[in-house]
Amino acid sequence: MRIDIITVLPELLESPFSHSIMKRAQQKGLLEVYTHHLRDFGLGKHRQVDDYQFGGGAGLVMMIEPISKCIEQLQSERAYDEIIFLTPDGKRYNQSIANQLSLKGNLLLLCGHYKGIDERIREQYVTSEISIGDYVLSGGELAAAVLVDSIGRLIPGVLNDETSALSDSFQDDLLAPPVYTRPAEFKGWKVPDILLSGHEAKIQEWRYEQALKRTEDRRPDLLEEK
Ligand code: ADE
Repeated sequence: MRIDIITVLPELLESPFSHSIMKRAQQKGLLEVYTHHLRDFGLGKHRQVDDYQFGGGAGLVMMIEPISKCIEQLQSERAYDEIIFLTPDGKRYNQSIANQLSLKGNLLLLCGHYKGIDERIREQYVTSEISIGDYVLSGGELAAAVLVDSIGRLIPGVLNDETSALSDSFQDDLLAPPVYTRPAEFKGWKVPDILLSGHEAKIQEWRYEQALKRTEDRRPDLLEEK
């Protein structure tokens, strides 16, 4: 899978994909992530990318021309399955959307800044708009990083233990059950006996019950959605 990201702050996206699972995904050739500096498509001597909004009002708006030029250059090189604009008024992101996006070949992510982007970009180029939650970030970069990470780890072969992503919270609309590691007892605090029993079927049953209980306690809305 290839993910291109258009941003005015490429530096912000250097670290998130350079470690751990995302790094390994790229080293294995399963994921390619490229950032494109919108300023390279900016207008005039100052490489302008934003301007005052028509009709007045505070805040700069990202201009259509640089974004259009950048998108069209990228589109001339490959076809994109989705052009996604990260925005707080987009569709709320969840595991199901991550699953769907992980099946795509080429994604183009567009990070907004300032007051927003010229609406014509959204109308003419963007195919889907995603919010990572009901709060406002300074820009779309951190949201783009969230998408890349959550999608990247779902690509087959990225995780060492193939079943690991399947047992994540949300994968079956349940939160994940509690997990423990050594020591089996610490300061008198014990790991549940069942996990030490070696009884695979009983352990699976316990985990399911715990996942259900945790979901009922913390996120009953997930059960209602079913
Ligand atoms: N840009 C600013 N806030 C955002 C959010 N909550 N989700 C996605 N993109 C954003």
